[in-house]
Amino acid sequence: MNAATSSAPLTESAKTESVPEGKPVLAILTIDDDIQLFRGNRHNFADLIETGRELGYLAYVVTVRNLKLGRSRVLGYTYRREREVWVKGYFPKPHVVYNRIPQREDERLPRVRKKLMLISKYPGVKLFNRRFFNKWSLFQWLNKSKATRPYIPETKRLTEPQVLTSMLKRHSLLYLKPIRGKAGVGIMTVKTQPEKHLPYRLQIQNEKRSRTYRCSTLQKLWERIKAQTDALGEPYIAQQGIALASVNDRPFDLRALVQKNETGNWELTGIGARVAGNASITTHVPRGGEIDEPEKLLVSVFGRERAQQVLAQARNAALILARQIERSSKHRLGEMSMDLGVDTTGHVWFFEANSKPMKFDEPHIRRKSLERIFQYSQYLYGRLRQTKEGTVR
Ligand SMILES: Nc1ncnc2c1ncn2[C@@H]1O[C@H](COP(=O)(O)OP(=O)(O)O)[C@@H](O)[C@H]1O
Ligand SMILES: [Mg+2]
Repeated sequence: MNAATSSAPLTESAKTESVPEGKPVLAILTIDDDIQLFRGNRHNFADLIETGRELGYLAYVVTVRNLKLGRSRVLGYTYRREREVWVKGYFPKPHVVYNRIPQREDERLPRVRKKLMLISKYPGVKLFNRRFFNKWSLFQWLNKSKATRPYIPETKRLTEPQVLTSMLKRHSLLYLKPIRGKAGVGIMTVKTQPEKHLPYRLQIQNEKRSRTYRCSTLQKLWERIKAQTDALGEPYIAQQGIALASVNDRPFDLRALVQKNETGNWELTGIGARVAGNASITTHVPRGGEIDEPEKLLVSVFGRERAQQVLAQARNAALILARQIERSSKHRLGEMSMDLGVDTTGHVWFFEANSKPMKFDEPHIRRKSLERIFQYSQYLYGRLRQTKEGTVR
């Protein structure tokens, strides 16, 4: 572990960095931590600060506790690559606040919600990515628009056994997912195999591995599922299972990164692919999933020409979906990642979007994603200055 990830020693105070002319100051907002000072992906924060420096922007990390907008200076942290240390210091008030609070539980705390509300209303400051999404809201938002409806699998809240019964009449594979889940935790699949003695096959993915149960009746199936959802204490959705395209019997899906650019419009930063690990019901890298190239995978399944069409459909869908999500979320968004599936016929499906994207390991996507944060911040800064001039006049 190097100092970018550890609770690095604070060896000295940051010297006051100068504020570049005509450029916004960016604060990366996270939550304070008693031991390591602040939470979140330190590598990511360090990369962002460094990219800012290269492009002539001042960026620093600030905690919910320390971001006091009424003051002229803000206590924050910056990273010094030469010595691999995080350094504490005072920084100028930010123009743009990029919310990277890493966990839902933290974002739900009353003091955090209050602070986010204050920032969003504060004149002279623009906040983006105000909150996490949940899978049920996403579905409802995307179901409202004709343009996005074709991309979403049929989805219901899993509130009673009848939901399961009716969904299983229409789909022989279902995905059951916690609405606030991540990294595959708590995901289950149900498969019906009517010809079998035990016709319901339930697969449950836990923190470490996945287990399979076979049930003779819907009643027994429901009881097993209920025990699992109760144990997690999270509401669930039941979703039409998509037969994902696969290569060598390993299904894959696409991960798109969509960000706003220097004109404030959504643009696709990049698209990657994740191939499922053996015997995993999801494609997450920590579960044996692997990164691969979307184009290569699609060509091997569909041939060159059809692969190009599918990829174009995925790129186009990602933008349409992002616009609809932002419109419905009623908050300013600057970026999101998306999990998209491609079925065996080449149709593109939306699984989820995340307003706190994990870093993409593909170098070309990574670099661009960091730059875009500053390009979009520059756009927001332009808007701030316009309103200011507007009020002076
Ligand atoms: N309806 C579905 N049909 C087929 N595969 C799915 C479906 N929903 C999810 N998956 C698979 O499971 C993975 C994880 O699902 P996702 O909704 O992204 O939950 P998480 O928040 O845990 O990442 C997806 O990337 C995809 O590979
Ligand atoms: Mg996911």
